[in-house]
Amino acid sequence: MLGEPGKSHFQIDLRRHLRGEGVDDALVHLICEIAEASKYVINAVRTGDLGVAGTSNLYGEEQLALDVLSDRIIRKRLIHSGVVCNIASEEMEEIFQVRSNLKGPYSVAYDPLDGSSLVDVNLAVGTIVSIYAGCDLLQPGRRQVAAMYILYGPRVSLVYSVGKGVHEFTMNHLMEFNLTRENIIMQPSGSIYSPGGLRNKYSEGDEKFIRYLEAKGAKLRYSGGFVPDINQILLKGKGLFMYPALNGSPNGKLRVLFELNPMAYLIENAGGAASNGRIPILDIVPEGLDQRAPVYIGCTEDVERAVEYQQEN
Ligand code: AHG
Ligand code: MN
Ligand code: MN
Repeated sequence: MLGEPGKSHFQIDLRRHLRGEGVDDALVHLICEIAEASKYVINAVRTGDLGVAGTSNLYGEEQLALDVLSDRIIRKRLIHSGVVCNIASEEMEEIFQVRSNLKGPYSVAYDPLDGSSLVDVNLAVGTIVSIYAGCDLLQPGRRQVAAMYILYGPRVSLVYSVGKGVHEFTMNHLMEFNLTRENIIMQPSGSIYSPGGLRNKYSEGDEKFIRYLEAKGAKLRYSGGFVPDINQILLKGKGLFMYPALNGSPNGKLRVLFELNPMAYLIENAGGAASNGRIPILDIVPEGLDQRAPVYIGCTEDVERAVEYQQEN
């Protein structure tokens, strides 16, 4: 640990912090490369065209939707990092094999721009990243060696864990990420809730659970962006995000590999919990890249209560 929790540490940058945590050189390099890529993503988000993929701009040039562009920015960086074996992204249909016989490689699953439809209305969006040792990406999330997200809000922040605490960095005017919060800890019980999906498609158990949360005085806090919604719950240390099974969508909406596993890893490492209503998100054995699951994620007691309501109904 490099400082007292809750104090500011503007002098500690991401690379120095990773080294202080005893992270091996290849993983330090990989995480710092993703942080570098995020600088180009935020530039695209802030100034890029709000077009849709496949259209062309004033000059007849191909215009890329921001999520496709963000995917290319991050993928290129990963390919040239020299430490990546396989890549899976929400924007690619198949696993992209970088190389298969590299010493000490990592594999990366990521959502390059989560909440991309929110860019049009100028709300916060983010990049979510999951890292495994070796070449296998279809493993339970508990085997992740690192997870992180970058939040593109009024400020840009980066939150990572390598299994030893969860730490927040904030981008300064030189676009460097400096430590702003170390060892973030969640409280056992929360006071905000973020419910995704259409409420009239909720099950009876989920309806009762929402009424329980409201009765205990929890406030509604939902932006429609998974990264800012989770960031709020994590940094305030008290709350629950859910995207349950819906009538007609028994697996909810969010994807295990690109969204749920990395967020579950971060929240668990901060002392919270994440469940699909039956088992921890991190114990799901993924069968495919596009696998989805219902999710209840946040303060441990709230997640336990959500699971109880599921089982009772
Ligand atoms: P993406 O933009 O990568 O497709 O994901 C958007 C996700 C996530 O950010 C958010 O939590 C959820 O969709 C919101 O869905 P609803 O609008 O159905 O609540
Ligand atoms: Mn997404
Ligand atoms: Mn996306």
